[in-house]
Amino acid sequence: MSKTKVLVTGASGLVGSRFIELAKVFDFVTPDLPHFDLTDLEAVRVLVEKENPEWIVNFAAFTDVNAAEQQSGDENGLAWKVNVTGVGNLLKSFKSKNFIQISTDMVFPGDLSQPGPYDETQVPPDSNEKLTWYGWTKNRAEKLVRENGGSVLRIIYPVRHNFDIKPDYIRGALKKYVDGKMYPLFMDQQICIAFIDEISDTLQKIIETESQGTFHCSSDTTTPYELITYVVDQLGADSSVIKSTSVLDFLKTQTNPNRYPVWGGLKTKLTEENLDMHHSSWQTVVERLIGQGLGLPDKSPTQS
Ligand SMILES: NC(=O)c1ccc[n+]([C@@H]2O[C@H](COP(=O)([O-])OP(=O)(O)OC[C@H]3O[C@@H](n4cnc5c(N)ncnc54)[C@H](OP(=O)(O)O)[C@@H]3O)[C@@H](O)[C@H]2O)c1
Repeated sequence: MSKTKVLVTGASGLVGSRFIELAKVFDFVTPDLPHFDLTDLEAVRVLVEKENPEWIVNFAAFTDVNAAEQQSGDENGLAWKVNVTGVGNLLKSFKSKNFIQISTDMVFPGDLSQPGPYDETQVPPDSNEKLTWYGWTKNRAEKLVRENGGSVLRIIYPVRHNFDIKPDYIRGALKKYVDGKMYPLFMDQQICIAFIDEISDTLQKIIETESQGTFHCSSDTTTPYELITYVVDQLGADSSVIKSTSVLDFLKTQTNPNRYPVWGGLKTKLTEENLDMHHSSWQTVVERLIGQGLGLPDKSPTQS
């Protein structure tokens, strides 16, 4: 039997590259910049027509939340062009419901007006009043995808045991820890992590079962302080040097009071029931990462 042909955008990124590594059951097409630019409708059309994939998984995005924030309100900025216009270009070029958009819990406000953890049935707001600019672009992309009958897979702080090109939430913190540059960690911010290997399994299940709708991949909730001190302890290092602080106090110093969701996170019960699968607790994710080889990184050379 021939393999299902899946076109994956953003296949060089943190999450997409691991999906390609793990989901060997598929025949992948992995176009990337500079030859394939999502913002160029003609280039997208030509590629989709030439490859004629059975599924598209769109990982490609403008993912720098702080840089996106600098473009707030600018629909000619790159964040909007990649995250909204780019998704529109894919949908115009691929007239099929076999489309999966990778999204984020940041499409929700993460505050007490609509606190997480969010389940798959909750509807993201139709206004950007309480979102970051990044969150709003992803929110609008979800809307386009839903209107075209495609599916959405939301993830949150995706983690893997290694990937030299880009740190994730845990590896980024460990680097700061070994360099003695660890900032105080929020002890009152509700977050989750998503094990990228489980994101890959979830995608494989959606495609293999030809499922449609909104799906989540996430652990249960924790806080940055609890998570990182746990990782450091599990690696046999000294977590007592890590200080804690309050996200609520920190947000008072920010231009955008919505910069960090306080009550974020995703629930996965419906996804697990619909796809007959299980997502690990955050402690189990940490243990599995360590089992795969996650360790303390080398200290950065001191600069003279
Ligand atoms: N990382 C997180 O914390 C997080 C959390 C929740 C959701 N997500 C979502 O998960 C998805 C994957 O995130 P990630 O962390 O793997 O992202 P990433 O490492 O930043 O990778 C983004 C990918 O998109 C590609 N890309 C950017 N602009 C493009 C364009 N104009 N045309 C074609 N490709 C373009 C990049 O190509 P180049 O490498 O060539 O630039 C790269 O392959 C994104 O949709 C993101 O919104 C991420």
